[in-house]
Amino acid sequence: MSHVPSPDRYSNPSLYRRCGRSGVKLPLISLGLWHNFGGVDNFQNSRALVLHAFDRGITHFDLANNYGPPPGSAEATFGRVLREDLAAHRDELIISTKAGYDMWEGPYGDWGSRKYLLASLDQSLERMGLEYVDIFYSHRPDPETPVEETMGALAHAVRSGKALYAALSNYSAAQTDRASSILRELGTPCLIHQPKYHMFHRAPEQGLLDTLAREGIGGIAFCPLAQGVLTNRYLNGIPADSRAGHDPRFLKPESITADTLARLRKLDAIAKERGQSLAQMALAWVLRQPAITSALIGASKTSQIDDNLGSLANLSFGAEELRRIEAVIA
Ligand SMILES: NC(=O)c1ccc[n+]([C@@H]2O[C@H](COP(=O)([O-])OP(=O)(O)OC[C@H]3O[C@@H](n4cnc5c(N)ncnc54)[C@H](OP(=O)(O)O)[C@@H]3O)[C@@H](O)[C@H]2O)c1
Repeated sequence: MSHVPSPDRYSNPSLYRRCGRSGVKLPLISLGLWHNFGGVDNFQNSRALVLHAFDRGITHFDLANNYGPPPGSAEATFGRVLREDLAAHRDELIISTKAGYDMWEGPYGDWGSRKYLLASLDQSLERMGLEYVDIFYSHRPDPETPVEETMGALAHAVRSGKALYAALSNYSAAQTDRASSILRELGTPCLIHQPKYHMFHRAPEQGLLDTLAREGIGGIAFCPLAQGVLTNRYLNGIPADSRAGHDPRFLKPESITADTLARLRKLDAIAKERGQSLAQMALAWVLRQPAITSALIGASKTSQIDDNLGSLANLSFGAEELRRIEAVIA
């Protein structure tokens, strides 16, 4: 039977923040489908994660052409949930997808050409059973394709009605400046930028966040929990059902060093003093930046979504707290 969403899902208006200088608001916590939504994963768990997020007011779901494994299967999974459970709620959802990484064989299935981006968007729409996505990203800058061509493809996607907004991911501050001015000239301003940003990866503080604020572009921080490291997941070893434990493609167990664990324990103690879990404090820390609209989490269990939404109960930091955190992560 099709899911009946919770009637209380919009009971917390402070869950939403305006995305840059646009008309769109996004939830402070958004759900990404990079891991746990592939063809290899348990469909009922994937379905439960999407529906639980929606029931809790999370309106933004982030995908990419290559999420799986196998590549494309996360979009197929999400499309099935949309079709079977959320068909009546399309206008309540902000769905994003991207193209930019290796997707199909031959010279036209990667990077930033118009040929690749527009073909990939058609494939994504087909897999998800959608007429349009809300946000279409260039997933990474392409050093060999003129940025005018890549931005022209995003603008075309918007003008053709297959995407409502254009977006960038993994572009540096200078690349974002240039891409943003081209998109504005084309009449399809950049809605949002998706950088990696968490306590152990602070590159966006070196100019990108200022660029976003100046350009009126929203920011959505990906991997805000460092793939689960900035949580209590690894404090007592590596659980078999954790990302590092069962899928070390992107999170290698050896990257969780004794030094990292020592820092995590200090951060966990500060979080406890704030009445938060470590994950909640890590999310609040990312969201303290005015240029960050949303923290883009992943989850393998619905309880993690609840824990992460709990961060909203305490988003402010005192100067002394920030100084103590800085001393641990610097
Ligand atoms: N644009 C890009 O290039 C790019 C790159 C990477 C990701 N992304 C986007 O960012 C999204 C999030 O990435 P991510 O999954 O790495 O984000 P993350 O939020 O840093 O890590 C998510 C993982 O942390 C663990 N976790 C989450 N909440 C927890 C909690 N409260 N307590 C304990 N463990 C918790 C879970 O791992 P376990 O499996 O161990 O339970 C979960 O799968 C992706 O889905 C994708 O949409 C974009």
